[in-house]
Amino acid sequence: MSNTVKHFLDIDRFDGATLRAMIEQGLSFKNGKTNGTPLKGKTLVMIFEKPSTRTRVSFEVGIQQLGGHAVVLGERDSQLGRGESIADTARVLSRYGDAIMIRTDDPEKLIELSAHASIPVINGLTNDSHPCQIMADIMTFEEHRGSIAGKTVAWSGDGNNMVTSWVHAAVRFGFTLRLACPDTFRPAQALLDWAAGEKGDIVLTADPAEAVKDADLVTTDVWVSMGDEDADKRHQKLSPYQINDRMMGLAKPDAVFMHCLPAHREEEVTASVIDGPQSVVWDEAENRLHAQKAILAWCLS
Ligand code: CP
Ligand code: NVA
Repeated sequence: MSNTVKHFLDIDRFDGATLRAMIEQGLSFKNGKTNGTPLKGKTLVMIFEKPSTRTRVSFEVGIQQLGGHAVVLGERDSQLGRGESIADTARVLSRYGDAIMIRTDDPEKLIELSAHASIPVINGLTNDSHPCQIMADIMTFEEHRGSIAGKTVAWSGDGNNMVTSWVHAAVRFGFTLRLACPDTFRPAQALLDWAAGEKGDIVLTADPAEAVKDADLVTTDVWVSMGDEDADKRHQKLSPYQINDRMMGLAKPDAVFMHCLPAHREEEVTASVIDGPQSVVWDEAENRLHAQKAILAWCLS
């Protein structure tokens, strides 16, 4: 299909200036500096092959606030579950809608969808990445602490889909990313090689204290992501990576704590941290709405 279709697939596919413009647009929507209904009459079709609270609601509310509306297809709502191909689904949805958001397991499905859609496709999470979340996270950090360029972000936990998008963002937005992951749950070597080739400042360690020391932002995610089946092993390997008061005490005194949510208190993060004064998780969740409005506006402009 036309390569002029403006998909939002992953952060590494964009240059820093385009991403920066999306963040500014998101802030402009949030602060009421951009008003009106630029997406009047536009339809976003959302496909969910995994559960969602934030992504589903923020996209639906977001497109509505911009003048459009959403059609939501859950796992049992479409013929995808009965074996209709992704390619045929892409062709059909392109005749009805103006953009497609998909949350799915295999990242190849996202690529297949974008290859056969003649309308923009947005990545609403795969097993490999979660770019919409990280756009909201960058926006949230910058609202609280100013430009993220040159700052240090520390991740302690599973080297999962969130980590991929953090690595992409560290390269494109120019910040240091320190990842503390157990050997069993490290991010893919190909991802780290890509970042090194792009001259990204990424440090991988097995020691959470080394990662969080003097960090400006401390973040983590669940130990068991949607679709993971080795919960017992994950709990065992990841328990030393919990973010607690001791860990936050190693970061800069004004460090913020973020979590994409949903969270499991007393597992990857203690209640004292996520519900404490350094946590900005509710602003982060709200910013999904504003960042996604910017992504939708970019895709459909
Ligand atoms: N953070 C996030 O994507 O949340 P949901 O799974 O609820 O959409
Ligand atoms: N890593 C988590 C993120 C949820 C928003 C998962 O994939 O389940």
